Amino acid sequence: MAKQMETIGVLTSGGDAPGMNAAIRAVVRSALAKGLNVKGIYRGYQGLLEEEIEDMNAHSVSDIIQLGGTILGTARCEEFRTEEGQKKAADICKKYNIDGLVVIGGDGSFRGAQALAHLGINTIGVPGTIDLDIACTDYTIGFDTAVNTAMEAIDKVRDTSTSHERCSIIEVMGRHAGYIALWCGIANGAEDILLPERYGYDEQKIVNHIIQSRKKGKKHHLIINAEGIGHSASMAKRIEAATGMETRATILGHMQRGGSPTCKDRMYASIMGAIAVDLLCEGKSNRVVAYKGGDYVDFEIDEALAMTKDIPDYQYDISKILSR
Ligand code: ADP
Ligand code: F6P
Repeated sequence: MAKQMETIGVLTSGGDAPGMNAAIRAVVRSALAKGLNVKGIYRGYQGLLEEEIEDMNAHSVSDIIQLGGTILGTARCEEFRTEEGQKKAADICKKYNIDGLVVIGGDGSFRGAQALAHLGINTIGVPGTIDLDIACTDYTIGFDTAVNTAMEAIDKVRDTSTSHERCSIIEVMGRHAGYIALWCGIANGAEDILLPERYGYDEQKIVNHIIQSRKKGKKHHLIINAEGIGHSASMAKRIEAATGMETRATILGHMQRGGSPTCKDRMYASIMGAIAVDLLCEGKSNRVVAYKGGDYVDFEIDEALAMTKDIPDYQYDISKILSR
């Protein structure tokens, strides 16, 4: 018979995301409510390997639901990618009597959780990334805050772009995924949206579009460029030379990862954190909490990592029609 859960650990890993604190709070408070001990692990897998582990109580997570970042800190850890690193981490969990671990992060962090599960530590993943690029879930903690932060910033760039009758290239985060670019592109009414999943590297097409828009009397031309395509500054120079329209590049960068989480991020984080603890108490392991088709569900990590998702064609196509 499986050993009853007594102590769980919680860590945040990979890029931070607004709402991670709400998820930590939910894990801690719902575990305490079930009579479990909770240990907070600082700086992700790096902190686990360095035994930066502390007991958490209800007060440890007071006054954090509204905070961006993660009170536990996060890291990217090379040592944990190795078999030796993973074995050492599993031994440390055993040394601290951690029978269940909640890992809040992205796909990479889930691969780590999967490795620990195979070494006998019950693990549950909670999707936390601003990129929305975890295939098994329609929602990832941090996305809503990030797109709202970016949208507000882009509105400001739009004001000055219109006053000066300029083209503005605004680069948003997303090295491999264009969801932030697509959402901001539509929500900010951008004339062009460049997504890593779709961009054909045809700058002439953009130049032609700008020339046509100018003829129609448009006072600005907003281009939302995803980080995965990048090179916004050099693109601006080439576009200005080819169109004669003054062009500026703005890279929004890490501001998109910070700030107080929106209500939506706090809500999803709170529910997902609590579900992660429920799953551990049911004796489940190697699973990830997800929100799919309007419901909270969970998947085997192996199955979740094998899933793929792409930018919805309809949304991409409509973005072009709406910006004409
Ligand atoms: P995210 O979780 O946001 O996708 P990363 O891909 O940077 O972020 O992963 C976070 C951490 O998870 C890495 O630094 C590493 O410690 C661990 N990790 C990533 N991929 C693996 C893997 N294949 N096996 C074991 N651990 C991994
Ligand atoms: O995964 C979230 C993310 O913000 C990506 O959009 C971006 O490409 C990456 O992290 C940036 O990572 P770093 O914090 O290492 O610059």
